[in-house]
Order: sequence, then structure tokens, then C-alpha cells
Amino acid sequence: MRISVIGCGYLGAVHAAAMAKLGHDVVGVETDPGKAQALAEGEAPFYEPGLPELLREAVATGRLIFTTEPSAATDAQVHFLCVGTPQKRGEYAADLRYVDAAVASLLPFLAPGSLVAGKSTVPVGTARRIAEQVRHAQPDAMVAWNPEFLREGYAVKDTLHPDRIVYGVPDGAGSEAGARAEALLDEVYAAPLAEHTPKVVTDYTTAELVKVAANSFLATKISFINAMAELCEATGADVTQLADAIGHDARIGRKFLNAGLGFGGGCLPKDIRAFMARAGELGVDQALSFLREVDSINMRRRVRMVDLAREVCGGSIVGRKVAVLGAAFKPDSDDVRDSPALNVAAQMQLQGAHVKVTDPQAIPNAERAWPDLVFSPTVEEAAADADVVLLLTEWREYRDLDPVTFGEVVAGKRIIDGRNVLDPATWRGAGWTYRALGRP
Ligand code: UDX
Repeated sequence: MRISVIGCGYLGAVHAAAMAKLGHDVVGVETDPGKAQALAEGEAPFYEPGLPELLREAVATGRLIFTTEPSAATDAQVHFLCVGTPQKRGEYAADLRYVDAAVASLLPFLAPGSLVAGKSTVPVGTARRIAEQVRHAQPDAMVAWNPEFLREGYAVKDTLHPDRIVYGVPDGAGSEAGARAEALLDEVYAAPLAEHTPKVVTDYTTAELVKVAANSFLATKISFINAMAELCEATGADVTQLADAIGHDARIGRKFLNAGLGFGGGCLPKDIRAFMARAGELGVDQALSFLREVDSINMRRRVRMVDLAREVCGGSIVGRKVAVLGAAFKPDSDDVRDSPALNVAAQMQLQGAHVKVTDPQAIPNAERAWPDLVFSPTVEEAAADADVVLLLTEWREYRDLDPVTFGEVVAGKRIIDGRNVLDPATWRGAGWTYRALGRP
């Protein structure tokens, strides 16, 4: 099939390369000329394991091209909208300017019988609004909503082997227009991608809600265990053992019960806020008032981390040297959007500590986002004269640190495990003061 992908950030770049891998002819439209150029040369403009190989292979076959020119999408049978929907400045609501611009740029080039498939995370009601615009521009084109559930760090795997496929189709499943949209998307996701993958075909609004509901549930699960961590801190219990024990109940499950510094990134925090804002507009804000608490619990962990560091430093962090391991919002990513690690680093610097941050991949992005922070290329350099080390993003190399050899390069053997990934006994055995969130 001929496919266009509008917006080639995390979502679009991976989607475009994955669609070419499936054998389609794909044109990626990206307004940022630098990004478009890099992608056209088979280079990923961000760190995502497996993506450079996938991109290079697809570009080499000639089935994947990138351009800044929306008219290049003219021949496509399916147009995937993959632009970002960030949080509006100073508000909870989602900023739809990129979605609106992408749709506007596409309207003049829509061919009869083509399908616009939205993948971006949008407030409920957006698909219907876009469908109206599309109908005016090209009465024989259609809109479907096809949310994406990929995780950064696993984006290639999640795109090529999704847990489920969701289609929101015009007039809902079973309608004539719905069946046409479904058939086109089925052709896109033909075997092997769709084989054995559960598929839900539904209406626009349900499809839009599926995405935000899933992210809200995940955020709630993390904040639930972090609330338990607060209880553990007050009582001397151990939240990691608590999570293991309740996680054995198959109805609960152990995944996404890792207590620590909480969630960040470009999705969960802004998605729950945009969801609350939309619920307010729909007059059902009470239904989601618990998400405000989910957000507060999450943000409180960052404050608690600073307090714990203060405690470990003997009551004050003023003038103390602090090494922060991790800048990305999670490992295997160079994304620093709403990074809990950088938030903690900045808070501590503001409160008078001398902070050095290190990260295996995210330093360039972190430097752009937080130009006042000090960065070190290696753990050893960041930690050399540190009074306390904070492990805030659980990269493999930090989890694998040997407390004995690492202990030889630091000034003070004090570590706070913000992600509960180190073995307390081993670290204490090597002479370290080991503290963690939610553990005695
Ligand atoms: C998330 C959803 O998982 C994905 O389905 C959706 O499409 C986009 O948003 P992502 O933001 O890439 O994906 O990261 P995810 O792996 O979900 O982690 C989000 C945050 O939660 C990270 O900061 C991570 O450190 C934190 N987290 C995750 C926890 O604190 N504890 C956990 O148990 C799991």
C-alpha cells in the first residue's frame, strides 16, 4: 500500500519505519527540515533501541522516504497522523495546534477513497471534528482513530508486535463506512503484525478513550504503589516486598508496581492532565478527580527524594556535592520531558547543593532543557567528590554498579536508590549508607 505518516517524532518515525518493514511504500512528512533530512539519511534523531537498524534498512530498500512537503502524501491510500499533543502552557488541556496544522496541510491532497488514521493521543471528540473537516474537503475520504500504545525504549517491538489493535471507525463497527475503514486498516496491518493480535473495532470516541483510559490506569497503578511507599516510610515496612506479595495475585499483577521516584515523560503526566481537563469540559470532572490525587502522589515523590537526600546529608544540602545518576525520564531513552530525575536535580541545585548529573544518552537533550544544571559524561566523574549519590533513572549500567569498586571513587559512600533496583544488603555490606524510597 501507499502510506503517509504525518509527523515523524517518536511515534511517527517508528511507525513509518515499521510500515515500510511490513512492505508498504511510505512517505514520512516532517515539518522540521533537520529531522526530515536526518531521517531521509536513515538516521534516528533520537535514541531508540532498534530504530537506527530498522530505518537504515527501510531507507535502503527505497520504500521509505522523508520530506517536509505535505504534497508528497497525495498518492497515499492511508495517512497516519502522528504529531504530538503536548500540554498547553500553564493549563492542563492538550495543545492541539500540531494536530490541526497536520490536518490542514493534508486536506488539499486527500484522494477519493483515502483514509486519515489518527494515532496521536487526543481529547475525546477530536476525531469527530477532524472527520467533519475531511468530509468538507473530500467527501469520499474517511477518518479512523487508531491509537498507538508504544513505550519509549520498546517502540520498535511495541509497533511490530502490539498487544492489541484498536480501530475507531466512522459510524462504529458494523456500519458500511466502518467496514470500509476497517478493511483499509486490516490491509495495512496484514500478517504478520495483526496475526494473533486481539483487535477491537469501535466508534471514534471509544477509541480515543481507550488510549487515555489505559494511560490513566497505568499512572494510577504507579501512584498506588507510591502511596503505599509513603505508608511504608511511616511504618518501617518494605514497599518492594509488599509489591511482590500483592503482585502475585493475578488480578493485580506485578507489572507497573515499581515504587520509586514515579512517572514522567511525554505521555503519562500530560495525558492524565488533559483527560481531567476534557472531563471538566464534558461536565464529569468528578469522575476523574482521583487523577488529581494520582498526580499529587507522583509529584510528592520528587519532594520526598530531596528531603531524604537532606536527611542523608545530616540535615542540610547547602554546599553539599550531589551526583545524580540519570537524566532521562526512564532508561533506554534520551527523552527528558518531565523527567523526575532532572526535576530532583534542579530542586536540589535551587536549594544550594552542587549537583552533577550524568546519563548514558540524554545529556544533550538535558543540557538544552536545563542549561543551568551541570553535567558529567561519566558516573565516575559525576560521583568523584560527591557527598551523596542519587540513582534516579535505572539504566542497566547503574543497576550493575559494583559497590566495592564504585566505593573507591566516591568521596562519601552514601547512595539513595530512587528506583529500588539495588540490593540493599550488598551495598551496606560494602560499607555504603543505603537509603531508598519506601524501604526501611
Ligand atoms: C507510556 C505507556 O506505557 C505507553 O503505553 C503509552 O503509549 C505512552 O506512555 P512511556 O511514557 O514510554 O509509555 O513509558 P512507561 O514505560 O510507561 O513509563 C512511564 C513512567 O513511569 C516512567 O517515568 C517510568 O520510570 C515510570 N514507572 C513505570 C514507574 O515509576 N514504575 C513502574 O512500575 C513503571
